[in-house]
Amino acid sequence: MTERSVRPAAEPDDVNHPVFAALYDLLPDSVLLRPHREYLARDLSGRVLEIGPGSGAMFPYVADGAAADLEYHAIEPDPNMRTRAAKTAREAGLTVDLRDARAESLPYPDDSFDAVVSALVFCTVQDPDAALSEITRVLRPDSEFRFLEHVGNDGWRRTGQNLLNPLWKRASGGCHLTRDTISRFVAHDAFDVEEIERLEFGFFPVTPVVRGTLRRERDGLGLGSAGPL
Ligand SMILES: C[S@@+](CC[C@H](N)C(=O)[O-])C[C@H]1O[C@@H](n2cnc3c(N)ncnc32)[C@H](O)[C@@H]1O
Repeated sequence: MTERSVRPAAEPDDVNHPVFAALYDLLPDSVLLRPHREYLARDLSGRVLEIGPGSGAMFPYVADGAAADLEYHAIEPDPNMRTRAAKTAREAGLTVDLRDARAESLPYPDDSFDAVVSALVFCTVQDPDAALSEITRVLRPDSEFRFLEHVGNDGWRRTGQNLLNPLWKRASGGCHLTRDTISRFVAHDAFDVEEIERLEFGFFPVTPVVRGTLRRERDGLGLGSAGPL
């Protein structure tokens, strides 16, 4: 077994949350998220991979003004979400190569994508370091990783997130409130930080929300310059 395939012992083997998937579709994919989904989808072209599309909330944004050469791929391990994502893709008129896989073990060759996108996924993946390492592997040099993620807060909010986290994980399909996702991203050697923005929206305990773009280094030695958010 390679180091990449090892997951923390407390994490579940199956990603299968039928209730969460059904309720997720009832959430208003609000006007608050719209500009940030547009940011993730803007001017995508070539071979693009979305990690954990859930029920496919990004698909209409990607379909809207998709480049002629866009080849859209997505991996989603939860079968309940996958079924919904396939329906959303059909309704949006977007052709998606949707596969049952996890971010920690991407079923693609090295250097095979022009961009990778993730929206609200790194809170849930079972092994974020392995997932990030896989993203760097499949991205071509000089290509982009675009993300929108909620991360751990500080001060009393962090204390509250720590207290709520066990219950929250059970109720929200394995979502962690306290992940220091952005520190993990910017510290990675393979990326340069193109842009990172802490967004002034979100409701406790799912706050702050951060979006940004990392650029895959040509030689795999990123600068990792921004501080933790
Ligand atoms: C909160 S939902 C976000 C869905 C969608 N990206 C959105 O913006 O609405 C998190 C998604 O990550 C998926 N997920 C969980 N573990 C994963 C893993 N190891 N690799 C890839 N996706 C995973 C879940 O099944 C779920 O669909």
